[in-house]
Amino acid sequence: MRLRDKIVVVTGGASGIGRAIAILFAREGARVVIGDVTETPLEGGAPTRAVVAQEGGTLRFRHCDVTAWDDVEALVGSAVSEFGRLDVMVNNAAIRGEGRPLLETAEADWDRVMAVNAKGVFFGCKAAVRQFLAQEPVGEVRGRIVNISSQHGMVAAPGKIAYGTGKAAAAYITKQVAVDYARQGIVCNAVAPGRILTGRPAGAGTDAMEYSVMRTPMPRLGRPMDVAQAALFLASEEATFLTGHNLLVDGGWMAF
Ligand SMILES: NC(=O)c1ccc[n+]([C@@H]2O[C@H](COP(=O)([O-])OP(=O)(O)OC[C@H]3O[C@@H](n4cnc5c(N)ncnc54)[C@H](O)[C@@H]3O)[C@@H](O)[C@H]2O)c1
Repeated sequence: MRLRDKIVVVTGGASGIGRAIAILFAREGARVVIGDVTETPLEGGAPTRAVVAQEGGTLRFRHCDVTAWDDVEALVGSAVSEFGRLDVMVNNAAIRGEGRPLLETAEADWDRVMAVNAKGVFFGCKAAVRQFLAQEPVGEVRGRIVNISSQHGMVAAPGKIAYGTGKAAAAYITKQVAVDYARQGIVCNAVAPGRILTGRPAGAGTDAMEYSVMRTPMPRLGRPMDVAQAALFLASEEATFLTGHNLLVDGGWMAF
């Protein structure tokens, strides 16, 4: 119960990594509010809310598009009005976009990817920090942010300029918020996943899958729970004098 009675918001918690984070955090005693544009998991199966309810945990779903400030503000507001405060904000929602190189990237695709992957993180941090500053600290910390970045954005995402740029922004925002609000007791870190198996099963043998297998020294690709375990550490009281960090969970991709 490493998050006993902590109040947590997770964006993009319907599917994949966000879903694993929401489920693990609820198991660890958190009361979780997920915000997503849908409740239906991309990979199939029961909605996150049903999984957590069956395990006896507490989780609410709220429709939220992270590109809209009003939605993000209302998401954090709903957690605070029901549970009294916000302890942890997980900015996980992101999209891949069309995944094209520079010359083939349309302005509309660039704008859409930036709106979710960069502005969505900015909005999530802003709503969380505003709430953290309005509440009393627990010990030394008023609240923790965990942004989900990527190995892409630290190194090139071949052929995917918008996605990689948006993820670089998420890693940068993490440092900026960590530095600007350290004195007020706000802890802000990121988890940078390598290739994690989420979404609809991708066919073995696709170029992207073969590239990921080739780049990953460990003999398997990642699972959503691999990332959730790292997020749990950064969300817990174990991470206090630790801020502005971008923690790779990549099976060695970036060491290669
Ligand atoms: N899967 C990987 O290999 C991998 C690698 C590196 C980083 N990441 C990062 O991990 C995070 C989760 O990735 P995933 O693979 O689980 O993705 P996913 O596509 O499986 O799930 C993303 C979730 O975000 C939601 N979402 C999309 N747009 C949204 C919006 N505008 N507002 C609110 N919710 C929205 C989706 O509905 C979905 O539930 C993302 O930030 C992604 O960039 C994933």
